[in-house]
Amino acid sequence: MEAGQAAIDAGARALEAGSLVAFPTETVYGLGADAENPAAVAAIYAAKGRPQDHPVIVHVAPGASLDYWCADIPSEARQLAEAFWPGPLTMILKRAANIPDAVSGGQDTVGIRCPSHPVAIRLLQAFKGGQGGVAAPSANKFGHVSPTTAQHVRDEFGADPRIAAVLDGGQSEVGIESTIVDLSRLTTHGPVLLRPGHISAESIAAVIDQMPARPDAAAPRASGTLESHYAPHTPVAMQDTATLALTLERLHGAGRKVALIHYSPLPAVHAEVALPATPEGFAHALYAALRAMDGAGADLILVEAPPQDGAWLGVNDRLRRAAHGSSGIVHGLINNTPTF
Ligand code: TXA
Ligand code: MG
Repeated sequence: MEAGQAAIDAGARALEAGSLVAFPTETVYGLGADAENPAAVAAIYAAKGRPQDHPVIVHVAPGASLDYWCADIPSEARQLAEAFWPGPLTMILKRAANIPDAVSGGQDTVGIRCPSHPVAIRLLQAFKGGQGGVAAPSANKFGHVSPTTAQHVRDEFGADPRIAAVLDGGQSEVGIESTIVDLSRLTTHGPVLLRPGHISAESIAAVIDQMPARPDAAAPRASGTLESHYAPHTPVAMQDTATLALTLERLHGAGRKVALIHYSPLPAVHAEVALPATPEGFAHALYAALRAMDGAGADLILVEAPPQDGAWLGVNDRLRRAAHGSSGIVHGLINNTPTF
């Protein structure tokens, strides 16, 4: 049931009072706090179990002033805001002097975005008369799968007294986190794509005439750029379609319980989710599928690897990170499984 104006207004008052409010965006659900209230921002870190030096994104209402939050703003940032906001693009810019340290994990930059989900927009407009900023990471425990429904958020945090409300906005349309482009070192390094997402590097280049590069070692840290992230508790492996068919046969013979996320026809397994074979459709349903398969009581989750081309960059990035921490376990399960 989508949150009505009364619930949204109550959420805005709770944010103003320093509480946390989870809210839907078009990418994933966020766990929000008043970006200008360091104690409220600290409560986000505590609730998520997130290290203090990981900066959070500031969400602003449509038409909000970039100049309030950011300094040394290049014209490219204004062009990208004009082209893609409200929408799933986060820009990293130099932070204005009045922005608290807590928001940016002590860095001299700030991540800023204007989301397009109508509930998010109404919340941002109701909060501090539309002039505030809501600091919000994805509403999941640190390192876990991002939530794309209000129920996912409730599953993640239970009855956490720090969270005053979880605003419902249905299932997030995009399904994976926003594209992050770093423009804070534009003159020396050009634009840098810190996290791939629904808005592609090509469509950014079409607006600013410069192709964002992939990050080098000096790029600002983004927790979404940690190798192991977005991970379920059950071990995850990605395999191409042909290899997967053989693996399934082998695991089936050994009585292993497999949870399968796929888009091609494959043999029946313990539990499965079939996803659309398009990057948009796959991304939209991916996190719900990972959560469902994580809860299926399987020994491992196998994912049919999507194509490697550019349109799948965001999906492949999230899948690689979801699988990263479990490569050893999965290798053991598949290769040391006795065959009878
Ligand atoms: O789609 C999204 O971006 C969602 C929704 C809720 O807006 N938010 C989200 O937040 O994914 P989070 O905190 O889970 O991921 C934000 C990423 C982190 O990897 C963080 O390190 C990076 O953005 N980030 C934020 N501010 C930054 C900064 N100043 N410099 C570098 N990276 C930054
Ligand atoms: Mg996150």
